[in-house]
Amino acid sequence: MRRLLRSIRKGSAPAIQNTTALAIAALALATAGTASCAAEQAAPIPCPKVEAAAPATPGKPELPADPAATVDEARAFFATVDTDLRRLWVASSRADWVSQNFITDDTEALSASGQEASMEYLTRTIKASARFNALKLPDDLSRQMLLLKLGTSLPAPSDPKERAELADISAWMTGAYGKGKYCPKRLENDPKKKCLTLGDLSNIMSKSRKYDELLDAWTGWHAIAPPIKAKYQRYVELGNKGAKEIGFADMGALWRSGYDMTAAEFEADTERLWQEVKPLYDELHCYVRSRLQAKYGKDKIADKAPIPAHLLGNMWAQEWNNIYDLVEPYKGQGSLDVTKNLQKKKLDEKAMVRIGESFFTSLGMDKLPDTFWERSLFKKPADRDVVCHASAWDVTFSDDLRIKMCIEPKEEDLITIHHELGHDYYYQNYFKLPMLFQQGANDGFHEGIGDTLALSVTPAYLKSIGLLDKVPENEKGELNFLLKMALDKVAFLPFGKLIDQWRWDVFSGKTAPADYNKAWWALRTKYQGVSAPVPRTEADFDPGAKYHVPGNTPYVRYFLARIYQFQFHRALCKAAGQTGPLHTCSIYGSKAAGAKLKAMLAMGASKPWPEAMKAISGEDRGDASALLEYFAPLRKWLAEQNKGQTCGW
Ligand code: ASP
Ligand code: SER
Ligand code: ZN
Repeated sequence: MRRLLRSIRKGSAPAIQNTTALAIAALALATAGTASCAAEQAAPIPCPKVEAAAPATPGKPELPADPAATVDEARAFFATVDTDLRRLWVASSRADWVSQNFITDDTEALSASGQEASMEYLTRTIKASARFNALKLPDDLSRQMLLLKLGTSLPAPSDPKERAELADISAWMTGAYGKGKYCPKRLENDPKKKCLTLGDLSNIMSKSRKYDELLDAWTGWHAIAPPIKAKYQRYVELGNKGAKEIGFADMGALWRSGYDMTAAEFEADTERLWQEVKPLYDELHCYVRSRLQAKYGKDKIADKAPIPAHLLGNMWAQEWNNIYDLVEPYKGQGSLDVTKNLQKKKLDEKAMVRIGESFFTSLGMDKLPDTFWERSLFKKPADRDVVCHASAWDVTFSDDLRIKMCIEPKEEDLITIHHELGHDYYYQNYFKLPMLFQQGANDGFHEGIGDTLALSVTPAYLKSIGLLDKVPENEKGELNFLLKMALDKVAFLPFGKLIDQWRWDVFSGKTAPADYNKAWWALRTKYQGVSAPVPRTEADFDPGAKYHVPGNTPYVRYFLARIYQFQFHRALCKAAGQTGPLHTCSIYGSKAAGAKLKAMLAMGASKPWPEAMKAISGEDRGDASALLEYFAPLRKWLAEQNKGQTCGW
């Protein structure tokens, strides 16, 4: 993920580009009550001259515009906003950085107060900005006006007590997840290893092939979540209240409004993309299930049944590449095992990050600043709790790049390093823009950049840097490679979509707290075709065992990124003059591809995202055809393997 300011900014960049977007802006601007422009802030914003009328009714906004407002005033207003946001976000970001690197009660409190100050400012300033509603503003200002509205994924109520409570809950949930451990009875007397961290448990999930051992790791980790449920419920109430105050029906409507189209259009567009890739997912699921049946037996995995969620090599069954050995199409085609070589060569954490950096510099990007190497966290500290979930930061919004990650010598982490550096290079290319433009074209773009480069980390490239012994040479070897990629990229797609499907329903009230877990498993079964390995009840809170839920990080961005990265890859391969099949292309070393990428990154969120998409790919919407093209040979092969099988669940 990217980490700017936990929950404060959402990496989306909507724009006023058409009438529907204008309607969103109008809706968002319809704010209730008086903007409290009292002088409690160090640099108070100008008070609106006209007060808002009635509370906003979604869809029927009252626009508290000031007929006397001028464009010059708007420009001055946004200049002040930029200065204020820099001050508030830098302070909050520093507090977050420290608290996530040292989880203690005190750092948690510091993080909460940083967030509280930003929340207070945003709610008040969004309301104040409504005075410019009737003005025809130049593009750069109208875009900042809209981005201000969408400037947080956690809007707070203006009631100070409620706001403080929400900030506390948010910081607490992040800490609770970060500290989560499983302390099995059998290790009670082991002085060295009493409790297992998520890292330990993930290693079991990826390596063990014993049904019961996997089950123990799965249930052990999921037991960290029930204490989070009551807080989550309150977070939903308070966040929704904050969203309503700035004109959205609920927090989900706010999250879905960050894509230069209406929330409803966005939902439909995401569904369109899912339908395009679903047939490929279904084939993969069918093939993998039959291989797992052969391994674990039909008494454990029945025909036509969903796959138990603990058998896919990952705690959330979100990516399946760790069980590649169980499903490898053709034996004896040479190993694709990068992990083995990383360990053999004894590459340490920094050396792995250097490999990632060298990919970016090969495209003509700058080296990472010295401070990156001094300030980042690369390794899990032995003596304290940290948030290990990988993230990338520009702490002071001034090329102060860092990553925070508990790196282990394994392929998965080498790929995640590229992912995180993608965020850092986005920051590096846009840090001179106004604060509100220092975001991805939309949040899916931000998540997709490092992954795009990682698509060029092909076997041939890996061989050239000594991490693979042999490149797949024939059709069988290529199918092995494509299947391995599909276990990561294709397996993830339904998971990427369903997390927010669940949250949108929770935020809208369609899913009541009494049904949180039931609704979660209904979606996991419907989309992924996986099932809970043991019966679950509402005493469980399984969504809380996935980082982004307690961490308040919207998730559909990762689904979008999985689609976009293939579009970006196809376009950059073309720029690099490559004409072979997409899955063999590597843009490593191509300055032409790098220039195209840089031009897009430098736009930040200053333009509606379809313009950024056009700049890099010539296309103006999400398009799954590049992903389908990449996997076309595999899809054909899977269909042959699945002949005679009863697919589906
Ligand atoms: N980049 C990942 C994510 O966005 C981080 C990870 O895979 O650990 O959450
Ligand atoms: N990085 C995201 C996650 O860990 C998506 O892969 O869930
Ligand atoms: Zn990311």
